[in-house]
Amino acid sequence: MFSKKTVRDMDVKGKKVFVRVDFNVPVKDGVVGDDTRVQAALPTIRYLLENGAAVILASHLGRPKGGPDPKFSLKPVADHLSKLLAMPVAFAEDCIGPVAEKAAKALKPGQVLVLENTRFHPEEEKNGVEMSEALAGLADVFVNDAFGSAHRAHASTAGIAAFLPSVAGFLMEKEIQYLGQAIDDPKRPFVAILGGAKISDKIGVIRNLLQKADAILVGGGMANTFFKAEGYPVADSLVEDEVLDTARELLADGKTKLRLPVDMVIADKFDAEAAARTMPAGPVPVGWRILDIGPDTVKAYAKTLKGAGTVVWNGPMGVFEFPRFAVGTFGVAKAVADSGAVSVVGGGDSVAAINESGLADKITHISTGGGASLEMLEGLTLPGVAALLDK
Ligand code: 3PG
Repeated sequence: MFSKKTVRDMDVKGKKVFVRVDFNVPVKDGVVGDDTRVQAALPTIRYLLENGAAVILASHLGRPKGGPDPKFSLKPVADHLSKLLAMPVAFAEDCIGPVAEKAAKALKPGQVLVLENTRFHPEEEKNGVEMSEALAGLADVFVNDAFGSAHRAHASTAGIAAFLPSVAGFLMEKEIQYLGQAIDDPKRPFVAILGGAKISDKIGVIRNLLQKADAILVGGGMANTFFKAEGYPVADSLVEDEVLDTARELLADGKTKLRLPVDMVIADKFDAEAAARTMPAGPVPVGWRILDIGPDTVKAYAKTLKGAGTVVWNGPMGVFEFPRFAVGTFGVAKAVADSGAVSVVGGGDSVAAINESGLADKITHISTGGGASLEMLEGLTLPGVAALLDK
């Protein structure tokens, strides 16, 4: 199924291996918060170390504008990695140029070096040839294990592959296999759950899934725009007026596949303590707004999920940061976990909901990619994967 070469296909003994990881993790006051992405890169790092490679790790962190910014330094992540690996991890204060070259040259097999944030150089996001070549100059082999950044055609994710033999790491392989299989060769029925605030972010995803899935269960703010497109006033609910025509087209194409909530929880303001009421899907009273799907929707969606062969979920069903409006999202999380289907969850918020609900171990695959997993659901080719050697 995975058509690219991986670290298993390379002799890395005695080689310097440049590994693009996605260490874009939350860092506050120099301390790493959720380290899922760092943990997820460990199998590749350990494999390379055990097989005699010197490992050079590169990543972006955040979205620094145009130059170095200490707020986005990868140093705290390097320190965190050192603890996880229980070994020293060297750090270079630049990812190219003399500092990086010296550190890479000094690195011995069995050692690890983390380079400073690749986005401290504007050429990174422009996929600059010079930067790509400079990064490649540090190593003998390129391994891309940064699934979360594979939808970006940047110097460290794609450009570098023009200058080195380039293969996938284990995380990249696993992510593409699970997501690829769910979309292209799903056990049926294949049910997709789509939530989150906006339709506009997911038009391509909905169009692709209308071809591939047997049902698409909609929740979250995006349902409001569909309601309005159907002609219901949604009062103060979040709505995207600019895509109402597209929403109508999708509803017409989706016919019975695209399912909207049958009831909803409305609130008198956008606030954790807002007054809440449950009502059947229909015109929202003036001064109120939809903040969650209702209990009948959770039941109906759970019934569909129970018989599914494959489930893919991206996006929460409501404002789950407010406990009063989290019931729908957690209800759906439980229904996915109990479904018995092959389940794949992607996107920061739905992953956070699964983790908070304590059901993560009942999910077949939790993706480390937000934008990258969405682009896969959309059926797009990821530049960071396309650049790797074919099997
Ligand atoms: C992510 O967090 O989705 C990836 O690390 C990509 O980050 P970006 O959206 O800033 O490119």
